[in-house]
Amino acid sequence: MQNEMSIDQLVAEMNPCIAAVTTAETENNSVPRFNQLKTVAYVNAEFRVHDDIPEALKQSIFSQSVTYPAKLRFANATQKDDSAKDIRGLSMQLSQVDGEVLWGEAGLQDFILNSYPALFVATPEDFLEFIRARQQGKFKMLLFFTTHFKALCTVIKSRKHCLSPLDIQYWSTVPFRLGESGNQVVKYSLIPCSEYKTKQAVDAGENQLRAAIKAHLQQGSACFHFAVQLQTDPDTMPIEDAAVIWDEAVSPFIPVATITIENQDFDNPESLAIGERSRFNPWQCLAAHAPLGRMNAVRREVYAHAAALRNKMKE
Ligand code: HEM
Repeated sequence: MQNEMSIDQLVAEMNPCIAAVTTAETENNSVPRFNQLKTVAYVNAEFRVHDDIPEALKQSIFSQSVTYPAKLRFANATQKDDSAKDIRGLSMQLSQVDGEVLWGEAGLQDFILNSYPALFVATPEDFLEFIRARQQGKFKMLLFFTTHFKALCTVIKSRKHCLSPLDIQYWSTVPFRLGESGNQVVKYSLIPCSEYKTKQAVDAGENQLRAAIKAHLQQGSACFHFAVQLQTDPDTMPIEDAAVIWDEAVSPFIPVATITIENQDFDNPESLAIGERSRFNPWQCLAAHAPLGRMNAVRREVYAHAAALRNKMKE
């Protein structure tokens, strides 16, 4: 069993390793993200809170049926070629939200999700080990995965081919508070609900997912339900093990809002550059949606540091 490190210690160890990895991958004076490096699309959307959600979930931004402007960044975790197997990312930023944020810019509320319901590692100590291995090169990465067999299995299961990022489900994987009292713990998911589905790969080479989004929006708007899953059993639905999937048969995701993406011109260098420069942080949120657990605690300073480095290099 590993010794638990302090959050400050973890952040202090992770930041220089992440900076070394990303600056080594700099191209055209542009430092990529450490994770979810390819911006597939950066689009405008609206986030409409439902008026018929269960009373217990009517908290903070979900307390009234209002519509927030939203920005969505669709990404590939590691691959520049969209046709390759990968984990996909979906980062969403609501604006015009009332109340104080825990970090960042007032009025914004971020949600950061992946296309698999669990993370490949359980603890931030394991994540640090992975980051160190990545910095040290391919042999150390191989060693990491041979000594972390469960992580290897999760990575294999979670890397998939994708026909369109608008047709797959995304999960927060780690938990968040719901409400001011702190009694309710939830995970989030985005569940696709468009009528139109991409049936075959759009022929556009390494940017086929961007082309699939464009083709979809030209047929009609895209839709996702935003849903919350309540923690109903702290033993089988732990806060501190990010590698555990909370059983949807025990606690199903309950839709609380609908995200609509209308047709728009996003496939141009300016929009993609804005998506590249964008920054998300799970702590850019209201206290009623506070990130929970040590994995999330580490992300506050790590994401801030990584985004500052990316944007400093672009100046
Ligand atoms: C200790 C845990 C974690 C660390 C150290 C970490 C590290 C990072 C870093 C450094 C970035 C780049 C940030 C930037 O340049 O702006 C990033 C981005 C991202 N991470 Fe994590 N991560 C962690 C956990 C997670 C978890 C639990 C998820 C689950 C959803 C996740 C999903 C993502 C996504 C979707 C992005 C892209 C965000 C964007 O669009 O800007 N990460 N991560």
